[in-house]
Amino acid sequence: MLKVMSVFGTRPEAIKMCPLVKALEGAEDMESIVCVTAQHREMLDSALGYFGVKPDFDLNIMKRGQTLSSITADVIMGLEGVLAESKPDLVLVHGDTTTSFAAALAAFYAKIPVGHVEAGLRTYDRYSPYPEEINRNLTSKLATLHFAPTELNRSNLAREGITENVFVTGNTVLDAFRYTVKPGYVFADEKLRSVDFDGRKVIALTAHRRENQNGGIADICRAVLELTKRHPELLFVYPVHLSPAVRDVVFPLLDGKPGVLLTDPVDVADMHNLIAKSFFVMTDSGGIQEEAPSFHKPVLVLRTETERPEAVAAGTVRVIGTETGRVVSEAEALLSDPAEYGKMASAKNPYGDGHASEKIIDAIRKAMNDKIAL
Ligand code: UD1
Ligand code: UDP
Repeated sequence: MLKVMSVFGTRPEAIKMCPLVKALEGAEDMESIVCVTAQHREMLDSALGYFGVKPDFDLNIMKRGQTLSSITADVIMGLEGVLAESKPDLVLVHGDTTTSFAAALAAFYAKIPVGHVEAGLRTYDRYSPYPEEINRNLTSKLATLHFAPTELNRSNLAREGITENVFVTGNTVLDAFRYTVKPGYVFADEKLRSVDFDGRKVIALTAHRRENQNGGIADICRAVLELTKRHPELLFVYPVHLSPAVRDVVFPLLDGKPGVLLTDPVDVADMHNLIAKSFFVMTDSGGIQEEAPSFHKPVLVLRTETERPEAVAAGTVRVIGTETGRVVSEAEALLSDPAEYGKMASAKNPYGDGHASEKIIDAIRKAMNDKIAL
């Protein structure tokens, strides 16, 4: 039995790792162990609860207004004891959060090989997204096995000299749809249940990134106010991240405004079904850029760059930044030009076939048979 420990701590990691944890639980030759750092608390617990994943270890590190240094230090210190006690053969981390990087470093210190899920995404701008671009670079350096969602991600790794033990698997976020998307879905969130999706043109909106906390989120909110003034039929539905750095900006600008519905973070099934019922999506989220194409929804990315150019190439995602005038004009184009809308809505999701978890497990088996560090 290979002892595989999955370590994660934030909402997006949980949503993308839980389908893999479920698949590991079903693998007869593997023992699945889960350690959460709880870099996020409520938002992590929501995802764990939805997928029915019960962690074996919980570092419970979240603090209000936590800093990058405190997250890093608490994860490394907390994992030291957990790894010594549990002695996994392989540690899996996901993506680019500070939990991912710090957990990979802690595993390296314990001389335990690391498998990096969602490897090889890059913008080549060290401060955007910040700190994720450097977190994922460092995680690639620390990892032994690299599970890349796309061929482009594989070639990014190759440019850095990482050519061994790289497996193209697709993105596990598509695996999550099997758990969340159901016909006749009824929203768990009361505010979402009250939305008239047939009578209004709903635009799903999220924004939380650190590099947008310095004015970008406020500029986006101003664009929303302008668009709702021009188009009373619009309803922006914005589940607002629990970070005070986000809420202290969004609520004073948008709460109670006509054409705007602010909610607390919603569970993953509500979010996927909200995307499915929206006209289009505006977001600075990484994960939502990968999800919306499956529902054939155009995405306006509220950032200056993306590490996910596949969906831009496919035509379904447009990177527009946060400047108020640009956000308004790009949204106007989608509202007024059916041909433009149709082009963006018809592309195929480039992030895989919904079976990334099985491919990752097969790759782990191959590494075991080939005696690669396991
Ligand atoms: C983190 C990740 C980011 C990811 C995002 C997903 C890092 C550095 N950042 O950013 O890559 O895109 O998660 O959402 O790893 N909070 C709560 N309850 C929660 C979650 C957060 O109260 O369930 C509040 C806390 O006050 C916390 C703050 O939000 O201190 C910020 O959380 P943090 O994880 O540091 O940053 P995010 O912006 O969430
Ligand atoms: N999400 C959710 N509830 C919300 C907002 C987002 O479940 O209220 C999901 C979303 O569908 C996606 C993930 O959270 O799967 C993205 O997380 P986030 O935007 O916080 O982080 P990122 O992907 O940018 O790192």
